[in-house]
Amino acid sequence: MAVAAREQWSSRAGFVFAAIGSAVGLGNMWRFSYLTAEHGGAAFVVLYLGITALIGLPILLAELVLGRGSQRSPIRALAHFGGPAWQPLGLVFVAAGFLILSYYGVIAGWTLRYTAVALFAGFDATIADSFADVAQGADAFGLHVVFMVATIAIVAGGVKRGIERTALVLMPLLFVLVCGLAVYAATLDGGEAGYRYYLQTDFSAIFDRDVLTQAAGQAFFSLSLGMGAMLTFGSYLKRENHLPNESLLIAGADIGIAFIAGLVVFPLIFALGLSDRVAESTMGALFITLPQAFAEMGAVGRPVGFLFFAALVVGALTSAISLLEVVVSSAIDGLGWTRKRAAWAMGGLITLLGIPAAWNTEILEAMDQVANNFFLLGGGLALSVFVGWVMKDPVGEVAVGTSGVRWFFLWRALLRFVVPAVLLFVLFDAIPRTFESLAALF
Ligand code: PHE
Repeated sequence: MAVAAREQWSSRAGFVFAAIGSAVGLGNMWRFSYLTAEHGGAAFVVLYLGITALIGLPILLAELVLGRGSQRSPIRALAHFGGPAWQPLGLVFVAAGFLILSYYGVIAGWTLRYTAVALFAGFDATIADSFADVAQGADAFGLHVVFMVATIAIVAGGVKRGIERTALVLMPLLFVLVCGLAVYAATLDGGEAGYRYYLQTDFSAIFDRDVLTQAAGQAFFSLSLGMGAMLTFGSYLKRENHLPNESLLIAGADIGIAFIAGLVVFPLIFALGLSDRVAESTMGALFITLPQAFAEMGAVGRPVGFLFFAALVVGALTSAISLLEVVVSSAIDGLGWTRKRAAWAMGGLITLLGIPAAWNTEILEAMDQVANNFFLLGGGLALSVFVGWVMKDPVGEVAVGTSGVRWFFLWRALLRFVVPAVLLFVLFDAIPRTFESLAALF
């Protein structure tokens, strides 16, 4: 039976690093900075932190509990605790994996390009104007393919020898890179305006419903929640981990890196007097404004730019691995495929699905909105109902590996009442908005 032969992490560190690797990615450095810039600076940060603590953490713990408790991939895990009627939800998770990875790989391809530009050519003054050309078309697709092949090869290598080993090497490197860049950014003249912009709160934005929606979507995206990624990683755990502690660690690292990335991005942009460009380019903030900053920095721009984009590549790779693993583990468990076959076949299909996103950034942006506002937030709502109301003894399951049930009832109460209420409120706003942005495409 597939269940008996199930792969496992070889160490606690292996799991924790892989899970942090999943969480920390383009969401922290690309999405977080452009959303913050768009939605009132620290007002957005405050909402994002609140939602992460109140909604994100309980869902993260719920996913880990479902994975470890069932020792199965998402579709089977839901059937295990809730009966066959819940299997379709697992299929939705797999669909989300297809959708997100197909455009995530395209963005990761852009980061590959800029890393290569820094390495081989250096940034020049016109780089900002050429973003639209390099972000769309055959080149963008080609780099997406390169990135996907790397992702597939790692996932095909297995849980221990592929995913865990990659995370153990790359995640410490990422921490060092991001922290080093933040220290460097602090030495720049004129960066204070960037900190001010980043950290000053426009409190009125807190009551803006759109800001709340975006902050919720970002909390889910950044923590890899609502589509079974954390569930899948949890399914390779033995029964001795203290899951609440692991959740805190993962969320803490995720928030920490996002925050520190902001301390890199904003001082850089403001020190070079490029703050106007942030407002004019929304999701391109990172790929338009920063390369221009690196171009204008002179000689240091090249190594700094290289390290920055290399960090992005690393973050993107360890996140993409977890997206693909949701699909691959489902194909292994559900179709009886070998890991290699599942990784190359499913990964290949996802690569092809990236064509529309690689051809047009507006399509990419629309896919990102659909993924967040429908799939992740909707998936989170379903998960909270499932673990809060359907699953028999979630508190007993979370207590395994811990020495008590102290505040675990509070967790269940959050899942039962607070999380669904907030997510319903958010979805009520997010769904029509997403339809609008889809309609605008045609
Ligand atoms: N958390 C990843 C990031 O921040 C993206 C991701 C979303 C990964 C959902 C897995 C599942 O980049």
